This record gives sequence, C-alpha cells and structure tokens, in this order.
Amino acid sequence: MKINLNMKTFFIETWGCQMNRHDSELIEGQLRRHGLAPAGAARDADLVVLNTCSVREKPVQKIISRIGYLAKQNPLTTIGVCGCVAEQEAGSLLERSRSVGFVIGPGQTTRIGEAVRAVSQGERPILTGFDAEAEYNYHTIFRKSTTRGMVTVIEGCNEFCTFCIVPYTRGREVSRPLDQVLAEVRLLASDGVKEVELLGQTINAYRCPDSGADLAQLLEKVASVDGLLRVRFITSHPRHFDQDLIDVLASHRNVFRYLHLPIQSGSDEILKRMHRKYTRQEYLDLVGRIRKAAPEINLSTDIIVGFPGETEADFEDTMELLEEVRFGQVFAFGFSPRPKTPAARYRPQISDAVKSARLQRLFGRCDEISRELNHALVGRSIQVLIDGPSRRDPEHWQGRGEDNRVVNFPRCGREEIGDVVEVEIRRAGAHSLVGMIVGGAVRLPTVSNG
Ligand code: SAM
Ligand code: SF4
Ligand code: F3S
Repeated sequence: MKINLNMKTFFIETWGCQMNRHDSELIEGQLRRHGLAPAGAARDADLVVLNTCSVREKPVQKIISRIGYLAKQNPLTTIGVCGCVAEQEAGSLLERSRSVGFVIGPGQTTRIGEAVRAVSQGERPILTGFDAEAEYNYHTIFRKSTTRGMVTVIEGCNEFCTFCIVPYTRGREVSRPLDQVLAEVRLLASDGVKEVELLGQTINAYRCPDSGADLAQLLEKVASVDGLLRVRFITSHPRHFDQDLIDVLASHRNVFRYLHLPIQSGSDEILKRMHRKYTRQEYLDLVGRIRKAAPEINLSTDIIVGFPGETEADFEDTMELLEEVRFGQVFAFGFSPRPKTPAARYRPQISDAVKSARLQRLFGRCDEISRELNHALVGRSIQVLIDGPSRRDPEHWQGRGEDNRVVNFPRCGREEIGDVVEVEIRRAGAHSLVGMIVGGAVRLPTVSNG
C-alpha cells in the first residue's frame, strides 16, 4: 500500500518544550497556507506531523512506537517528523517506516510547505541543519490562543552542558533583531493578546544583531507596549542573569512575577561536571538579589537526579538547596544519557533504582514545600487571567495568577476567557489553588504601559 501523496488534511502532535509548542504554531500556519485543513484526530488526517523532543530517551522511544502505531492504524497516512528527533535521527527515520514522508529539523521548520509539495511528487525530503540567514516570517504563525502569545527572541544554545542534546538539535544561538520582536509583540497586543511569552533556550544570552541590545533592554521595551497586561520570558540561564535584568523585573509590574531558573544540581562538584559555569553559592546569591528586588516572585527550577557520579552527599546538597530556596515548582528528571553528549560516557552511571528512589524523595519534599507556599496565599486576593473552563468541572474557570499559579474558581456569569478577575483564595493544594471571584466579575480596562 502506498502513502497518500495528495494531502488535504493534517493533524499535529507536539512533544517537548515551549519552543516546540511554538514551532507547532508555525507548522500549522505553513500547512494552512499550503491549502491543508486541520483534521479532528490523527486517524482522520492525510498528514500527521509529529513535532518531537529528544531531550531524554523515553520520549524518543514513545515517538518511534507512535510512528509504528500510526502507520498500522492508517497505512494511507503520511507521517512528517519534525523537531529535535528529526534533527538527531534524520534519514534513519525514513528507513524505519515507509509511512514517513519527510523529516524536518527545527532549523528548517519554515520549509514544511516545500516538503509537502515534494511528497506529492513522490519524494521523501530530509531537511536538517541550520541556516542563520533563513527568513523568519511571524505573519505565518497560527495562534490558537487569543489570550496568550509566544514570541521567539533567540534560537539555539551555545552552552553545551555536558548532559544536554539541545545544542546539537537546535544549533548555535541566533538572536532576532529587537525591532522585529517588538513589531511582532505590538501586533499581538493590537489583536487583543494579554500575555506575551518571550522564548529562548538561554533567553538571557539575547543580543540584538543590529544594536547589541540585551534582554533587559528588550524586556523594558516589550513591557512598555500598550495593552500588554503580562510579559514573561523563559528560560533564563543563571550565569547570564545580570543586575539590569533584575532592575527591569523590579521596575515593571507587568513583567510576570514568576521566573524559571534551572539549577540542575545543588552540588558544586556535579555543577562543574555538568559544565553549568556557576556555583551553588552564586546561584543562591542570585536568588537573594532577585527576591530583594521582587519579594513576591515565584521561582521554579529544573533538577537532574542521578547525573553520573552523583553520590549520596551530592544528592543531599540538592535536597538542602530545596530548603534554602523553597521553589514554587520543581521539574525533576532522572539523568538520561544522550547521543553525542560527554556525560553519556562519564562513569559511574547511576542505576535506575537509585535514580527513582532519589526522585521520589525529591518530589515528596517539593510537593510539601509548594503546598506550604500555596497555603500562605489562602485568604489573599489575586488577579487571575482566565484561560478557559477547568478540566475537572466545566462550571469552573481555570486561570493563572501573576505568579503563574494555577487557580480554579466557579463561574460568576459575565466574565469571559481573556478577562482578568480578582479571586480570593479559599483552598490550596500542592499544584493549584481554589478561590471565588470577589466583588463580581472585573474586566480590567486596557492598560497603558507607555
Ligand atoms: N535551557 C534550559 C537550561 O539551561 O536549564 C533547559 C532546557 S532543557 C530542554 C530542559 C531540561 O531538561 C533541563 O533543564 C534539564 O533539567 C533536563 N534535561 C536535559 N538533558 C537531560 C538529560 N540528558 N537527562 C535528564 N534531563 C535532562
Ligand atoms: Fe541544554 Fe544547557 Fe543549553 Fe539549557 S543551557 S539548552 S541545559 S545545553
Ligand atoms: Fe525537547 Fe528539543 Fe525542546 S530536545 S525540550 S523539544 S529543544
């Protein structure tokens, strides 16, 4: 049986980080421009695009079995593999299954229309690698949310942490010109978007290629765009977080009161072998300076457990650091050896049993801490941007506070998605808050940030 060469409908499945989610918006925009229409489910689509992540081995395995499943479910379906697994595996994906029609790495996402055309002519293109001159047309991005908008400010990563595959799958850092970023943000704000999320793997390494402006200067300009209620940025590398950035955080109330600041480990020895280029104390000093400037800030982090050679004492250093910082949220992962990365060859590798036991202990304590932090908010009123109906109960709304905390609350009547309402917190769990709208629905006037 041959795959469908005349593709009319598509379905996209996305794994991985915010950057991949945003790339899927770019992919959707390109496919629509090429005349394809969205299908309701993968089994009904002529083209299924898998936008993939290879940061750990498990998701890669899931994607490989997903290709097999989709090919069996509907042998006429064309599968397009995009994202970081596409960059990593390239041609070998075509060998895995006849259903794979094209492979496109993150640096070539804008060429998906070209790939679809090539497939219709019987080709199976492989588009990988990076081209710093590639044109970035944000007008072709298809955004589903009318409330929030993601905007890329820097692509790639130059850090080469010894455990991480991202510099190999996403290439070297390339910053977008400040004026272009600002034009995109203004467009979003004029379309009624309330919250803009600036994206980059090491966003605070941003340098405008025209003016040399850094992230603090960019953020200041973005935060001053009229109509924007909230501006967030992700992911900050601790070693690039300078005082100018802290000052912008402190002086602009519409810069989100939430910061994702990955530490990876609380042990100096492990940090050194991870090639993170900061010490535990430098990280703690940075947290101290950020909290002094913006005391209400909610911090989250990433931690890798079971990095090669991690001793009980190293792990205890990480557990102690949790007590010192008290993060609102922690994303922790067992170390997964990745192709090409130096840490995959480091010895001794830690057993899965030890990694799981350490992870379990770490998650247990993190949950207790975030529950304690959330409990401290009971009785307080906070401003919540409504995202949509709560997943558990359609009679309730779900939204996020200024510090990124998830809040569920009963509908009041007049409020809509995208409104900001004042919610009094009544109950708190480890991962979300429950509250009531106070004083009826409040639709805030469009703010002027000028
Ligand atoms: N750029 C961000 C930074 O510098 O922290 C992180 C980006 S990475 C896509 C997201 C997280 O995945 C990392 O912070 C790290 O905790 C985790 N990660 C990356 N490589 C990993 C590996 N080989 N095994 C386990 N977790 C890994
Ligand atoms: Fe990976 Fe390190 Fe770059 Fe983050 S900074 S993407 S962890 S290499
Ligand atoms: Fe995954 Fe690539 Fe993002 S490896 S986490 S999708 S940059």
